Amino acid sequence: MSQKIFFKPFWKWAIIVLIPVALFAHEWNAPEEAAQRPNPVPKDAAAAERGQKIYTQFCANCHGKDGRGDGPLAAALNPKPTNLAARAGHHTDGDFAWKIANGRGVMPAFKDQLTENQIWELTHFIQNLKK
Ligand code: HEC
Repeated sequence: MSQKIFFKPFWKWAIIVLIPVALFAHEWNAPEEAAQRPNPVPKDAAAAERGQKIYTQFCANCHGKDGRGDGPLAAALNPKPTNLAARAGHHTDGDFAWKIANGRGVMPAFKDQLTENQIWELTHFIQNLKK
């Protein structure tokens, strides 16, 4: 049996599978159940302002003061801190809250440093970055 018969279909499938994986590898989604959790903190100016204060202290060094992924530490990091202004509106509050709590790789987990309410306040600040 010639190897061609085996490799031909394999490479076809490898290409079909690898292209989307390469394109979407940067995507990061919270588990569906976490993403659907409603934000228990009412969205008002005061909550977003508290969120901004926490953000400036804990997040701006990486994500930049306006959330564009261009903080002072960003140049040294791989992967780069996400441009949160671009993600705002594309994910639920629950999705952002879960990612902030649990982290991934370079992105620290904040569940032991921040209260749940502080994390929800951060999501209000992030969603407001949407232009
Ligand atoms: C040490 C640098 C660093 C700090 C500090 C940091 N982040 Fe991140 N953050 C990252 C990196 C890098 C990623 C991308 C991680 C990945 O995709 O694997 C990320 C990803 C995220 C995401 C996911 C965006 C998405 O939908 O893909 C959110 C939300 C986020 N950060 C919010 C925050 C908040 C809020 C804080 C402060 C409480 C914070 N980050 C602090 C580096 C940081």
